[in-house]
Amino acid sequence: MIIAVDGPAASGKGTISRALAQHFGLPWLDTGLLYRAVGVATVRGGGDPDDEAAALAACDFDEALLDDAELRSEQAGEWASRVSVHPAVREALVVRQQRFANQPGGAVLDGRDIGTVIAPDADAKLFVTASAESRAARRHADEVALDPDADYAEILADIEERDRRDASRSAAPMRQADDADLLDTTDLTISAAVQRAIALVEARTGRR
Ligand code: CDP
Repeated sequence: MIIAVDGPAASGKGTISRALAQHFGLPWLDTGLLYRAVGVATVRGGGDPDDEAAALAACDFDEALLDDAELRSEQAGEWASRVSVHPAVREALVVRQQRFANQPGGAVLDGRDIGTVIAPDADAKLFVTASAESRAARRHADEVALDPDADYAEILADIEERDRRDASRSAAPMRQADDADLLDTTDLTISAAVQRAIALVEARTGRR
């Protein structure tokens, strides 16, 4: 069983995907981490994330990079969003994602184009979203723990800019697949959102 989870930054798709993987006993791939690794490897190699050739060269990054804490930073998210517009970069990462999706028993993958490009035949597809303001408030709460000066307005502007770039690029833009269920988490607690996601997958697949 393949479960595809897509949606914008800070919508809750990572938490929901992890919970779905645990509930259904499936392995999980956070595909955003691959784009983050390419972004960080590009910059560490002295390249510009907007330069397609430099970003493509960074696609054979060292596997150990996936465990690097810098990948979780807002800066890495921004670089990821910039390298991910390049068609050659997306293509270089497709095989790896599809191999993960098609392993025996299935998998959960989350990202921006899982239901549309990577696994169009997924058994269940969710598009997880929330208002930009509530997503910015969640990111702000996370960041204040690390940096008391974290600025809500700046985070909201970053989120809106990333949404715009992810949805307007020509290669595999972020969008809800026609056969995906929409899950709006704006007014849901984490546990309510997870319960709802499990119910949607059960309804689509008949699996418990
Ligand atoms: O967790 P958050 O939503 O902030 O970011 P992420 O899922 O780690 O993705 C970081 C960036 O990678 C996104 O803004 C997208 O531009 C890009 N991405 C993508 O293009 N396709 C994917 N399947 C996953 C991420």
